[in-house]
Amino acid sequence: MADRYVAETINYERFPGLREDILRFEASVPEARPILDLGGGSGRDALFLAQLGRRVIFGDLVAEFCVIAKGAGLPAVHLDAVALPFGDGTFGGVLCSGVLLHVPRTCLGAALSEIARVLTEDGMAWISMKEGHGTEWKLDGYIAGERLVNYYTVPGISDTCEDVGLAVVGEWHGTARPWFSLAARRVTGT
Ligand SMILES: C[S@@+](CC[C@H](N)C(=O)[O-])C[C@H]1O[C@@H](n2cnc3c(N)ncnc32)[C@H](O)[C@@H]1O
Repeated sequence: MADRYVAETINYERFPGLREDILRFEASVPEARPILDLGGGSGRDALFLAQLGRRVIFGDLVAEFCVIAKGAGLPAVHLDAVALPFGDGTFGGVLCSGVLLHVPRTCLGAALSEIARVLTEDGMAWISMKEGHGTEWKLDGYIAGERLVNYYTVPGISDTCEDVGLAVVGEWHGTARPWFSLAARRVTGT
């Protein structure tokens, strides 16, 4: 299952505009600070960031993805976004692309709070979600088996970010609607 998912999502061809988004995120992260690819899946973005010369840690809830990422040469940590095994202020950037929509709605605040905690004071988070309302269990897509998908509005996520000390500094909708992305900077002193 994991091998098939990785094979189908490891390249940017299937994700128009995403490579440019990752470049934009990378440019916003203070230089020389490590980046966490939280819920990194195939490792596509972590590998790209490493190619750009960044120190990257890959993390995912699925142990098989971590094994594959390690095999590709990435430092990989098996983790859950709601309780990150890193100290405060460890990362200059956290990339969280298409991940938090799969976390139970009641855990969203905890997960965003963890992202804020592991960022340095000027650190940047890049969070992509699906726009809409409600929750569904989906069977389609590249991942086998049913998975939870929560839909959020931009103002709703932005408010939760602000609550945990992440100031939203950018938002954009790519061509692949209903996906949207937020750039959020850790607020000094929180
Ligand atoms: C849709 S995939 C996105 C993968 C990758 N970020 C990308 O953009 O291609 C969602 C990823 O989030 C991971 N994930 C889901 N819940 C998680 C959690 N609570 N903590 C860490 N990773 C999680 C899944 O295992 C999967 O790799």
